[in-house]
Amino acid sequence: MDFIINDPRIDADHSTILQLLDSSRDLPDGADPRDLRRLLVKVKHHVVVHFVDEEFIFEKQYSMPPDYVTMHKQEHVRIRDVVLDSVRDAEDPDGPVIRERLTSIRREIERHIFEVDAQMNDYLPARR
Ligand SMILES: [Fe+2]
Ligand SMILES: [Fe+2]
Repeated sequence: MDFIINDPRIDADHSTILQLLDSSRDLPDGADPRDLRRLLVKVKHHVVVHFVDEEFIFEKQYSMPPDYVTMHKQEHVRIRDVVLDSVRDAEDPDGPVIRERLTSIRREIERHIFEVDAQMNDYLPARR
């Protein structure tokens, strides 16, 4: 994914998370569901840490409109819950179900990056 956010750390996080989610395609159809679950857990770690880092940037480091901050935080809470629920549901691993979850998490995160994270550019200093 080409750069979209005026903060190289955020961009790097986004590409790590999306690449991780895409790596499920490298696992064959009959892959051990535990491998898919391990991948999902890794995604969870990255997403949770990334959201905390991003919230620091849009809440503390730069001044952004309160409505935007609230909306962005609510989106994080909702996506984080989806990811946490997916990890919990994958306790009893079922490969195709976990794969489906990874696909929908990817779709959701990509949409969030383009529709919500991208709005931060209005308030971040331009990249040199
Ligand atoms: Fe983000
Ligand atoms: Fe975000």
